[in-house]
Amino acid sequence: SLATSIGGRTFDNCMMNAAGIRCQSKKDLDALIASNAGAYVTKSATPEKRAGNPSPRMQTLPHGSINSMGLPNNGLEYYLDYVIDDQHNRPGTTNFLSVAGTSLEDNLAMLHEIQDSEYDGFVELNLSCPNVPGKPQVGYDFDRVNTVLDQVFKFYTKPLGVKLPPYFDLVHFDQIAEILNQYPLTFVNSINSIGNALVVDPQTERVAIRPKGGFGGIGGASVKPTALANVRGLALRLKPEIAIVGTGGILNGVDVFEHILCGASMVQIGTQFGYEGTKIFDRLASELREIMNQKGYTNINQFRGKLKTF
Ligand code: DHB
Repeated sequence: SLATSIGGRTFDNCMMNAAGIRCQSKKDLDALIASNAGAYVTKSATPEKRAGNPSPRMQTLPHGSINSMGLPNNGLEYYLDYVIDDQHNRPGTTNFLSVAGTSLEDNLAMLHEIQDSEYDGFVELNLSCPNVPGKPQVGYDFDRVNTVLDQVFKFYTKPLGVKLPPYFDLVHFDQIAEILNQYPLTFVNSINSIGNALVVDPQTERVAIRPKGGFGGIGGASVKPTALANVRGLALRLKPEIAIVGTGGILNGVDVFEHILCGASMVQIGTQFGYEGTKIFDRLASELREIMNQKGYTNINQFRGKLKTF
């Protein structure tokens, strides 16, 4: 079985999409519902609809992708209506509603609206969007993260997780974990893209994407070691009630297996899901099943977090 559970909710497959990729429209989300994914997450919402940054704003790369989409989305109401409808149609299923306000006030306003709604699924509060000009990634400002969570948990009582940017220093793992452990978070999702990287085309002597002078977030194969370090670094430091969602660099069943070994209870696929579409969940499921069969594992909890060190 590839089943998993987070915060008392069960999922028949531990794999799902990552926010942002093929999840902006109702049609995209309907395709995820029809797929073998264990859940879906909606494109990060802002209070109002946004067009995002000018194109070209995403480029495929030999080992991943670069993007600076700039939060194009249909606004919170669109996604909140969708997940509430789905909750009526498929009672007992849990999905993820992503919100990414560009200010503390916007995040609090959206979470108040969700708190006051019928929605009872997960919310993924995105503290790591790197692509809105002039807006820093909240996850790199530890005092700000603490302020956001302090304000949120004064009123918010539904299951909530945070999407974090990658960290690159073990002391930063200590510092973020110490803050997160003070709150009743259901999960943390690591990692968002490696932000503000630069891809150069030597032929044309130009950058790969238009926004922000070419600076954008990297996803795909290139980010897997950073993602695994963040999943493992957080798994070793967070209280056991906080589940880890592992995101970054998943292309095949071995990558899923490695994320789970590092401590992930659920994994999300972004770049490669963009390239393959929903059939990727069939392929990854059969590849992970094959690895588990070879190793004699019958469920993911038998190896989750059990990475060995020398
Ligand atoms: C966008 C990119 C992100 O990595 C994110 O977390 C949210 C939004 C974007 O550019 O749309």
